[in-house]
Amino acid sequence: MRAILSFLLFPIFVVHASVTIYTQVTFAPGAPSTSSAPLVTQAAHYDLAFAQPPAPPATTGIPPFVVQLQSAPLPGLSKQHTGCHMGFSIELSVADQVVGKNGIHLDALVLKKKESRSAINPQFLNLMQNIKARAGEVKVRVGGNTQEKAVFFPEGLPGGLTITKQQTGAGGLTDTPTINVGIDLIYALANVSALTNTYYFLGLPFNDTSNPRLEIGEACDSILGDHLLGLQLGNEPDLYALHGLRPSDYNVSNYISDIQIMLNAVNGDSKMSNKTNMMGPSVCCLWTSQQASGQIFTIDEAFDQYVGHQTVTDAVSGYISDVQLAEQNGKPYVMLETNTASCAGFWGTSDAFIAALWGLDYDLNMASINASAAMFHLGGQSALYNPFTPPPGAAAKKGYQWTIGPMYYAALIVAEAFGSSSTAQVADLFINNNNTNMAGYVIYQNGKLATVVLINYATDPTGASDFTAQLAIDGSGLNLPNASPPNIFVRRLTTPGNSTADHVPFYYANQTFGPPLTSNGILQGDQVTETISCDATTNLCPVTVKAPSAALVFLNPQAEADSINTADTTPFPTTVTTLSFKNTATINPAVLATSNGYGGLNNQIGSTSFGSSGAVDLRGSLSGVLTVICLLAGASAVLRML
Ligand SMILES: *[C@@H]1O[C@H](CO)[C@@H](O)[C@H](O)[C@H]1NC(C)=O
Ligand SMILES: *[C@@H]1O[C@H](CO)[C@@H](O)[C@H](O)[C@H]1NC(C)=O
Ligand SMILES: *[C@@H]1O[C@H](CO)[C@@H](O)[C@H](O)[C@H]1NC(C)=O
Ligand SMILES: *[C@@H]1O[C@H](CO)[C@@H](O)[C@H](O)[C@H]1NC(C)=O
Ligand SMILES: *[C@@H]1O[C@H](CO)[C@@H](O)[C@H](O)[C@H]1NC(C)=O
Ligand SMILES: *[C@@H]1O[C@H](CO)[C@@H](O)[C@H](O)[C@H]1NC(C)=O
Ligand SMILES: *[C@@H]1O[C@H](CO)[C@@H](O)[C@H](O)[C@H]1NC(C)=O
Ligand SMILES: *[C@@H]1O[C@H](CO)[C@@H](O)[C@H](O)[C@H]1NC(C)=O
Repeated sequence: MRAILSFLLFPIFVVHASVTIYTQVTFAPGAPSTSSAPLVTQAAHYDLAFAQPPAPPATTGIPPFVVQLQSAPLPGLSKQHTGCHMGFSIELSVADQVVGKNGIHLDALVLKKKESRSAINPQFLNLMQNIKARAGEVKVRVGGNTQEKAVFFPEGLPGGLTITKQQTGAGGLTDTPTINVGIDLIYALANVSALTNTYYFLGLPFNDTSNPRLEIGEACDSILGDHLLGLQLGNEPDLYALHGLRPSDYNVSNYISDIQIMLNAVNGDSKMSNKTNMMGPSVCCLWTSQQASGQIFTIDEAFDQYVGHQTVTDAVSGYISDVQLAEQNGKPYVMLETNTASCAGFWGTSDAFIAALWGLDYDLNMASINASAAMFHLGGQSALYNPFTPPPGAAAKKGYQWTIGPMYYAALIVAEAFGSSSTAQVADLFINNNNTNMAGYVIYQNGKLATVVLINYATDPTGASDFTAQLAIDGSGLNLPNASPPNIFVRRLTTPGNSTADHVPFYYANQTFGPPLTSNGILQGDQVTETISCDATTNLCPVTVKAPSAALVFLNPQAEADSINTADTTPFPTTVTTLSFKNTATINPAVLATSNGYGGLNNQIGSTSFGSSGAVDLRGSLSGVLTVICLLAGASAVLRML
């Protein structure tokens, strides 16, 4: 209890999403991608495996069912959320590859050809702008395990670089490279923010509280200003002992002492004007009731963990009491680093269509229980779950573009569903009598019905598992006058192969970011919004949702019109994109294994075409059965245990 009270000193609550520990999934390689050039085939990200989705739930068709909506806000509706509930978490070690090599936007560099190779990545700007155009804002977290030993360079790194890495110790797999953070990283973030209204979470280095290093916080405070949402104190401290960052008996009391020391340092630091945006605790898994279960999954078993609404509600229900505890103390609860799984994700799952459906459902569910935001993590080339991935350095030089993954499509839909009014309230509708093969959510904006999200989890080419939700607003079901509108408007998330095991390209509203290594961050194709007529007599608006797909329904023309701000749709130029990433440092697989940032550093080694032998070692340790611990998102959080 004492521990909980100490934590409540913090204005912001954070937890790590991944809790239940499973041992490494056995990897059954599927058809390898033939579309990408040989130079990128080493990267797990482009090495596609296909799971076999579970058998279709229905064989004789699903009768249409009514989804009763009411104009007045439902009891139990969530608190109000901002538009960007589904944000992005960028592993610090790859922030330069994702954001850009320095803080200068391309426009400023057009005349300086030599430097133009190191501008902010326009693809990243486009991806942020897509979210801003829908949600009015973006939330990004930059951090992860690599933040703890980071060294800040307030005068900048040579050449204005945002990040460099230095090998400390003898090199090899047991040493973690130290991340040097130049002030230009913070400038880069500020430039991105100025262009796309992005808000940030960062972290203070926490490896040595007896010598607090607050410079990153000071720079964020002065450069990011009110676009700094919070500074994390300690990333996954429950794993410090395992990673050799603290003595083997490091415990919760020690962590709280460390935090108190850091808070005292912050309070005494005149260069930090905002002393109330410190965040914690942010734990992984060992300080919770969930311990290693030692389960082994095959690729299909891993896949099955994500099929169905109940997988989401089971995962999210473990957080409810913690979110409520945070709320009772007036503090927002943020999932700072989450995704389908840690350990770079599951082959055939984290990079498949199922991940888009699951991510959409998971984020909406987190919103429905009042978690303020969930940040979906991205690492480097070898992370399968990345919402978006820049090309490996050598591929970039040859003109390859970015890969936009399933989670980014989900984030677009959440952004449209919530809109930019910062008043989105969500409820899980448990549609069709709480049928786990489907999910449905209603979203109110400004206290008024705005949107509905429908998800069909089935893979079934026969059509028998397609469903038709009959949306009804008020009407006889509630003893109220009919209130369904004449028309509703629908945008759909689909995959051309109609299987949850499909890989990108996916389509949202008939637009796509294309196959791997082809996107400049701009949606391609003509946007299609279907108009569906409602029956004034029966008060029903039928929305058919094919298996598998998701549908975003706008319940009135205003919600549809407000869903995208066309003023924010001018793309950033993508004429200069190539960055060269060379690094020889390797990293301790134990650190990576439990980190969602796994691929982040692996990217430095194994995923470019530099041919480092570290790649082989790491891939070997990953694909070997039982050698690596994976984390499956879900289950309970930290506070109960303290
Ligand atoms: C963009 O970055 C440059 C330094 O690279 C900095 O001088 C400038 O103030 C930044 N702009 C904004 C809006 O933060
Ligand atoms: C903490 O990290 C800094 C920067 O990498 C390093 O100089 C220092 O030795 C580390 N301290 C401990 C106790 O690990
Ligand atoms: C500190 O930052 C938080 C998060 O951005 C903000 O809500 C709060 O108003 C800030 N406080 C001050 C004194 O600026
Ligand atoms: C935590 O470890 C310290 C030693 O570093 C010990 O004194 C303390 O009793 C431990 N606390 C708990 C709750 O185990
Ligand atoms: C979420 O917050 C709303 C508004 O404060 C409250 O009515 C609702 O009960 C909360 N939901 C949960 C699951 O605690
Ligand atoms: C939905 O079904 C699951 C599984 O039977 C059950 O645990 C849960 O309580 C149900 N939820 C609602 C709201 O009916
Ligand atoms: C997927 O479904 C769509 C829409 O029903 C259909 O046009 C398309 O042919 C299907 N694709 C495959 C591969 O069966
Ligand atoms: C979808 O977009 C493509 C362009 O990519 C366009 O040719 C097609 O007509 C669009 N579909 C519809 C139904 O408008």
